[in-house]
Amino acid sequence: FILLEMVDNDLGFQQVETKCPSQTKTFLFISNDKKVAGCLIAEHIQEGYRVIEEPLPEGSEGEKVMFERQRAWCCSTTPEPALCGISRIWVFSMMRRQGIASRMIECLRNNFIYGSCLSKDEIAFSDPTPDGKLFATHYFGTSQFLVYNFVSGTRSSQPKTDAV
Ligand code: ACO
Repeated sequence: FILLEMVDNDLGFQQVETKCPSQTKTFLFISNDKKVAGCLIAEHIQEGYRVIEEPLPEGSEGEKVMFERQRAWCCSTTPEPALCGISRIWVFSMMRRQGIASRMIECLRNNFIYGSCLSKDEIAFSDPTPDGKLFATHYFGTSQFLVYNFVSGTRSSQPKTDAV
């Protein structure tokens, strides 16, 4: 619970909200010195909505990353079937960009549903932060990945929703 509070603080969630704890699975990444370096909380979902890709303005790689970090994201209003929602994913700041989040998702895919491996297309991200969006775009190999849970989210800045 304390760990969740810390993760939520880092993510900008205002309060700890565990809608249905029995429906969630938590994965922890333990470092060699036996500290919690990563946390992933996943839940069962039925559907997600695809992020709508908007073209990036011209500019250097650095400028594009800055723009990507700041902009709100839009998503389709058409639901698509999904099985697993990533409610939260967090890696200790000093250990980021070492593949830990990617390894936690691989572990999730192999262990979320007993006896089967989730495909990337069955996974959606809850209201992603800029870091989450950059990570998901890399992991899924597209910026048009699935999102869910954005209307009832607790973060103050809500994304806009566009019809397609
Ligand atoms: N900026 C740009 N690209 C990124 C970033 C970033 N901040 N983070 C990940 N990527 C991309 C890169 O392509 C990276 O590969 P590379 O390092 O070889 O270039 C690739 O994703 C894989 O990244 P990982 O090393 O597996 O990711 P990491 O362990 O650093 O964890 C995470 C990513 C969880 C988003 C981390 O930055 C974090 O904890 N951030 C703060 C909390 C947060 O915002 N979490 C997401 C919230 S959304 C949600 O919880 C549903």
